[in-house]
Amino acid sequence: MRLFDTHCHLNDEAYREDLVEVLSRARTAGVEELLVVGCDLASSEEAIKLAEENHGIYAAVGFHPHEAAMVSADDLSRLEELLIHKKVVALGEIGLDYYYDHSPREIQRKLFAQQLVIAERMNKPVIIHAREAHADILQVLKDAGKNCRGVMHCYSGSAELTREYLNLNMYIAIGGPVTFTNAKKLPEVIKKIPAKRLLIETDSPYLTPHPFRGQRNEPAYLVRTALRISEILGVNPEEIADLTRTNAYACFQIDK
Ligand code: NI
Repeated sequence: MRLFDTHCHLNDEAYREDLVEVLSRARTAGVEELLVVGCDLASSEEAIKLAEENHGIYAAVGFHPHEAAMVSADDLSRLEELLIHKKVVALGEIGLDYYYDHSPREIQRKLFAQQLVIAERMNKPVIIHAREAHADILQVLKDAGKNCRGVMHCYSGSAELTREYLNLNMYIAIGGPVTFTNAKKLPEVIKKIPAKRLLIETDSPYLTPHPFRGQRNEPAYLVRTALRISEILGVNPEEIADLTRTNAYACFQIDK
C-alpha cells in the first residue's frame, strides 16, 4: 500500500526527539507523501524546512483559529511570501474553533476570511479546521471564499453538511476517528462522498486511531484509517490507498 498523509504536524515538538524514526516508520508503512501543516509563522516555516530536507514532504502554511488574536497585518504579508515556495501546496490550517474559543469569534471569522482571500489570489487550496462552527464556516466560505477550493480536515460532519462542502469545491479528509468503535455516523457519511473527493490524514500527533488510542499519533498509523475505510466501502485497501493518493495530487496540484 502506498499512502499520502494529507495532514500531519511533524513540526510539532512532540517529534523533537525522534523525528527520524517517525519518518522511517512512515516509509516502512508505505506512507510515501506527507503534508506537514502549519498553525502560525514558526510552525509554517518549520514545515517548509522539513519539506526542503525530505523527499515526499510538502508544506501547508497558515494561521490556525486558535492564533487569530495574535496575527498582525505584517504576519499576513509574510504568509503570502511563504506561499510562493515551490513545496508549499496549501494554505492551512485555517478556520473556526468555537469549542476552545482561544480567540474571540469575530476575530476568528475575520482572519479566516482574510486567509481565504489570500488563497484565492495565490491560487492555493485551503485546509479548513471546523470545530462546532459549521454554520459560520459555510457563511464565511460563501461570503469570502466562493472561488476557493480545498479540504475539510478531519471531517466528522453530517451527510447534509457534506453536500454543502462538496458544492463549495471541498475535498473531505477522513482521519483516525473513523476507526473509533463509537464512530457510528461517519461510515454512512463516507459512503456518500464521491470517490474523487476523498482524502485521508492522521492529524499527528493528535487523533490517534484505534488500537493505538492514548498514544502519540504518527503517520505510520494512517494504514489503520485506510483499512477501516476499505471495510466501510467494501473495497480492496490498495484501491483506497491509490484513490486517496491520486486525489491528493489533484487537490494539491502535485505533478507525478
Ligand atoms: Ni491539524
